[in-house]
Order: sequence, then C-alpha cells, then structure tokens
Amino acid sequence: MDNRPIGVFDSGMGGLTAVVELQKVLPRENIVYFGDTGRVPYGTKSPEILRKYARQDIDFLKTKNVKMILAACGTVSSAAGEIGETCGVLYSGVLKPTAAAAIRETKNRRIGVIGTPATIRSGAYERLLKASCPDAEIFSRACPLFVPLVENRHTKRDDPLVKETMKEYLAGLREKEIDTLILGCTHYPLLAGAIGDFMGPGVALINSGREAALYCAQTLRERGLLREAGEGAAQYFVSDSVEGFRENARACLGAPVEGPVEWVAIDDY
Ligand code: DGL
Repeated sequence: MDNRPIGVFDSGMGGLTAVVELQKVLPRENIVYFGDTGRVPYGTKSPEILRKYARQDIDFLKTKNVKMILAACGTVSSAAGEIGETCGVLYSGVLKPTAAAAIRETKNRRIGVIGTPATIRSGAYERLLKASCPDAEIFSRACPLFVPLVENRHTKRDDPLVKETMKEYLAGLREKEIDTLILGCTHYPLLAGAIGDFMGPGVALINSGREAALYCAQTLRERGLLREAGEGAAQYFVSDSVEGFRENARACLGAPVEGPVEWVAIDDY
C-alpha cells in the first residue's frame, strides 16, 4: 500500500481524458495534474524543446512526492519518452498500452494512427505496432489543427469548423479501409464524437488516455502500490490562467474539475 499521489501531465486539457479514466478505475487514488497551458501546443515543437519541457514537467511532479508519473501526452511519449524512462520514478507514457490495445482490437490488421506532427514525425507508434505485429499495415496522419480546436472549445460533433477539419485530415484515412484508429493524442478523445461520425461505425477508436490510465492502474496493482482506503482527490497545476483552465475544462469535459487549481512557474524547474 502506498498513499502517495499519482502524477499526471500534459500540455493542456488533453491529459484530463486520462485523469477521468484513472478516477473511474482507481477512485481511491490522489492525483496531482500538471497542464502546461502556458506552452501548449507541444505537438509542433522540436524534440529538443520537448525533452526540456518533459524534464521540467517531471521535475515539478517529483516535488509533489508522487509514486508514479503518467505522461498523458502522446507527443512527450513519442518524442521525449526517454526523459520519463530515466527519471527515477515509476513512469509510463501512453504509447505502449495504446499500441497493445490497437493490436488486440484489429481484425484486418489495417490500423490508422492520428496524432500531433511531432508524434507522427517520430514514427514511434509505427515502430511499436510493427514490432508486435509485423504484417500490420499502418496509416499515419498528423492533425495539427485538432489540439487548437479543443483548446478553443470547438469539440461538438455538429460544429461546422470541427466537421470541416475532420474532412481535411481524415478523408484520406477513410479510404484505407482501416478497422482501428489510434487517437494518438490525448486531446483527441474530446473530438471522438466527430471523429467517429466521420470514420463510421466500422472503425474502432482507441483512446490513448484511457489505455494509459488502465495500464497505470495495472502497474500499481501488480506492485502493491495502490491506496487501499479513503476517497481520492485531485489537485491541478497549470502554467497559464487558472480561470482559463477551469473554463476550458468545464467546456471540454462537460463538468467542472473538482479540486484546487494553482498556477506554477514551470520555468523555475
Ligand atoms: N495532448 C498532447 C498529446 O497527446 C499534446 C498535444 C499538443 O500540445 O500539441 O500529444
């Protein structure tokens, strides 16, 4: 048994999709969330900058005495994963559990991957998927406008801007006859309604925030590190406006974040 909190981070709202899932599977756990809202988006940044951001985000969470760190960010997991792997605290990114879920799900072995430009450029999903299923065919597409849409609260499936953007990025993928699509950025589950409408019912959507949360729960359980009593609480830290985060989170998740939100000077880490 370990009563310390779980640390979760992302560039902004996206990681909240993992927090929601963590709270479902591990309702007793305390969570410390950091959203780097002052520096979002991560997905257009270079690997050097991403490694610096990942190091700072992790160093900040380490000051909160966390028992495990979850990089609920496809971009950090793909382009700067080694920073987490060597941080000295139990760590997981989203990549491995998400790729494993896609392999379990696909029947025709035609898998699509959508993510930020940095995630797709890294080729990390493709390598992992091919390593565990060499005859799989992988079709990848960067969707740079999805994160700004979410961060600006355009998430509804009938929003004309959202519908147009789906066409722009997903039309080519729809022709590839994939049966499984990895939402390789944790912001994308917030657009799942529109993505599902566009891709059709024959395509299973893999939510990387959810898969990462399930993996985190399994890891803590296997190691006997779960908190065994009490009701979990969450604490949030952001690098831009606290109010802006609260409003965006409410709009994106359809419910307010429960718990205190504080500003943090992330450049000091
Ligand atoms: N939600 C993150 C990801 O999973 C970051 C998106 C961004 O900031 O560009 O990739």
